[in-house]
Amino acid sequence: MTEIHRGLAGVNVDTSQICSIDGERGELIYRGYDIRELADQASFEEVVHLLWFGELPTRSELDALRDGLRPAFDLPGEVLDLLARTPKGTAPMHALRTAVSALAAFDDDADDTSEANLRRVGTSLLGKIPAIVAAYQRLQAGQEPVAPDPNLGVAANFLRMVNGEEPSDAATRVMDVALVLHAEHGSNASTFVARATASSLTDPYSAITAAIGSLKGPLHGGANYGVMQALESIGDLAGVEPYVHGKLAEEGGRVMGFGHRVYRVMDPRATILKGVSERLAQESGDAKWFEMSLEMERVMDAAMEAKGKQVKPNVDFFSASVYRMLGFAKETYTPIFALSRTAGWMAHLFEQYADNRLMRPRLVYEGAKGKTFTPVDQRG
Ligand code: ACO
Repeated sequence: MTEIHRGLAGVNVDTSQICSIDGERGELIYRGYDIRELADQASFEEVVHLLWFGELPTRSELDALRDGLRPAFDLPGEVLDLLARTPKGTAPMHALRTAVSALAAFDDDADDTSEANLRRVGTSLLGKIPAIVAAYQRLQAGQEPVAPDPNLGVAANFLRMVNGEEPSDAATRVMDVALVLHAEHGSNASTFVARATASSLTDPYSAITAAIGSLKGPLHGGANYGVMQALESIGDLAGVEPYVHGKLAEEGGRVMGFGHRVYRVMDPRATILKGVSERLAQESGDAKWFEMSLEMERVMDAAMEAKGKQVKPNVDFFSASVYRMLGFAKETYTPIFALSRTAGWMAHLFEQYADNRLMRPRLVYEGAKGKTFTPVDQRG
């Protein structure tokens, strides 16, 4: 019997120094640091340095990273034009994927995969992707894009470029925590796609464009949009239980924001975001989305326990209510995931290009055999 690993489940394709996940114990480690400690204390930029260089930055290393980021938020005028000309109603992930692909045309060294150039491209994308997401959201709403403030970090600049006003320290910190939590997660679908794309030694823009396309799917980063879509369609607390039971009764029905290939217990990122969501609900006085989320978790827990399955909330579940309370439209949730995950994608590209082997798995052929060719006019 030929062994087949559908969805590449349990397959080790390479070694990595970046991230480790213990799905039984609910542990997520970036380069030796527990995610809970990083979410509690680190800024997104510190985590970027950690993921890219293997160590938390010294003060001067952090300053150097921030200096490198300052000009990175500026977009070529042609890319802004492209975003402005994108038809109304086009989903932001389509626009983001297209704009990131277009950026290669404005980079004379797009095909240089040396380590120094990859770090330059990574820094550039770390600024340009949030700038694209923010500009596109405003253009679609009929507003002018807001110029970046080079003195702000990624979290504050993104909030400012979306909302057109200085963000509060509290909102910036919540954004930073969300970016830290979404920055990296091992060989998830989009990161694997980035590495597999790079393994042909194509350019990093192609790899990140492919990764954005993968992240967009509802089984991956697109689930945070699906969670809010579900909560909005349910409408109130009383509707949660019938919704969940209805979904589970459907053939192949999935409740978005639950389940994970790796975790058997609650995703530690979901635990942290649950706390953030609860705090925002208390502070804002609008507990509706948090309470509906809690109820959904309760109903899913009971239903899954009855079936003997371990299907717990994942990172996308509580991020939906957190982003809602930060004031983001649900269409922006997955793009926010993309702007953060760019840090992890790039860390994996550094590793992949540094010690590459072409990814080329096999498929077991089960199709027809032994047919003979007949000319077109003789085919019935
Ligand atoms: N709702 C209902 N049932 C579920 C769910 C869910 N969200 N997730 C898993 N299950 C059930 C499946 O029905 C399956 O039952 P079965 O064995 O009786 O067929 C069992 O749990 C295992 O599910 P699989 O799909 O085989 O697990 P897999 O590892 O292939 O899929 C996935 C993981 C895709 C994340 C899945 O849990 C899912 O579809 N979740 C909803 C989408 C989602 O939230 N995605 C975000 C994931 S996190 C991220 O990418 C950032």
